[in-house]
Amino acid sequence: MGSKNKLKRFKENETFDNVFQPKRDELVNETYNLKGNWKENVFKNDNPLVLELGCGKGEYTVGLAKRYPEKNFIGIDIKGARFWRGAKTAIEENLNNVVFIRTQIELVEHVFATKEVDEIWITFPDPQIKYKRTKHRMTNLQFMERYKKILKPNGLMHLKTDSEFMHGYTLGLLHGLGHEVLYANHDVYKLGGSPEEVTEIQTFYENQYLEKDKAITYIRFKIN
Ligand SMILES: C[S@@+](CC[C@H](N)C(=O)[O-])C[C@H]1O[C@@H](n2cnc3c(N)ncnc32)[C@H](O)[C@@H]1O
Repeated sequence: MGSKNKLKRFKENETFDNVFQPKRDELVNETYNLKGNWKENVFKNDNPLVLELGCGKGEYTVGLAKRYPEKNFIGIDIKGARFWRGAKTAIEENLNNVVFIRTQIELVEHVFATKEVDEIWITFPDPQIKYKRTKHRMTNLQFMERYKKILKPNGLMHLKTDSEFMHGYTLGLLHGLGHEVLYANHDVYKLGGSPEEVTEIQTFYENQYLEKDKAITYIRFKIN
């Protein structure tokens, strides 16, 4: 995408009612007034809160929001020019259970209060295979601790990825820590049996992997 187009999207994001761009300082200083108040102040209902982390263009955020109008959906990514697509679609289709937040996932515990969130989807995260990149891997121990903090006690986690490494790494970690794996499938299209939304919603990155005939995997789990 050209820089002109990016700038146009950044500008448009600022005018969208469904886009939030908290400042890092507000978050780390704990002065962000939406923390703990997303349902009441933003969605104006008491419906469950579902996050998509590293949402890219927000295919899951928007796709799930259409399927589950009785839940609230929040897509999170650091790249505003990407989620602009999802935010624009949500506005065009009058989806009032969708918002996007531009922030680093590392700061998620400053965006949401303890036990504020019901479910988290992680869709096609960069696997960060090199040992030196471990700290950026979105299902490592540190990230799991952050998710545990903001999730309700029985909150659900979903990981959909093309990366066999990420799938195996995450299963190993969950097993080692004694977390509950509710469902795991290492090839959702060939093996079948996954919930509908796992195969019926496809993301931008997913389509690129499907063209290369890569298996797509899915895990649903709880962090105890
Ligand atoms: C491989 S892309 C997948 C995007 C989308 N889920 C999809 O399937 O098409 C990973 C996304 O995560 C975002 N991301 C990676 N690390 C992040 C971080 N630490 N904080 C916020 N976003 C991050 C990137 O900007 C990118 O959009």
